[in-house]
Amino acid sequence: MTLTNEDLVSKAIAAREQAYCRYSGYSVGAALVDDLGQLHQGCNVENASYPLGNCAEAAAIAAMVQIGGKRIARIAVAGGRSEITACTPCGGCRQRIHEFADEDTVIIMFDDSGEWREYSIAELLPASFHLD
Ligand code: THU
Repeated sequence: MTLTNEDLVSKAIAAREQAYCRYSGYSVGAALVDDLGQLHQGCNVENASYPLGNCAEAAAIAAMVQIGGKRIARIAVAGGRSEITACTPCGGCRQRIHEFADEDTVIIMFDDSGEWREYSIAELLPASFHLD
């Protein structure tokens, strides 16, 4: 199965529909394709104890790792309160994506007006933290 970027955007929108975001009202979905061509999706899951909430990207990455995916080839993020507005990954999620990204990893953002942007992790997280 080869997913186009348009397919990936649709999968992010579908994941967003499952968001549990009763506190912020801001629903986010993420869909990624890994190095094996596998699809993984995630949505944000909030909690009454606010800091315990999880981001959509973190959920998609956890799903990837759990079935053996090693690297993120492409990831699309869909977020917004009602309409989809360009949702750039938060700082923490940029670092999470960075952990599994390569130079050519594509991070896709889009909104309901049809605005579409593709970024590299170097653009979203310049001068990033590495242990090495
Ligand atoms: N959120 C994500 O899921 N991913 C991001 O990159 C930005 C923020 C979620 C967290 C919280 O549930 C809601 O959006 C509002 O911040």
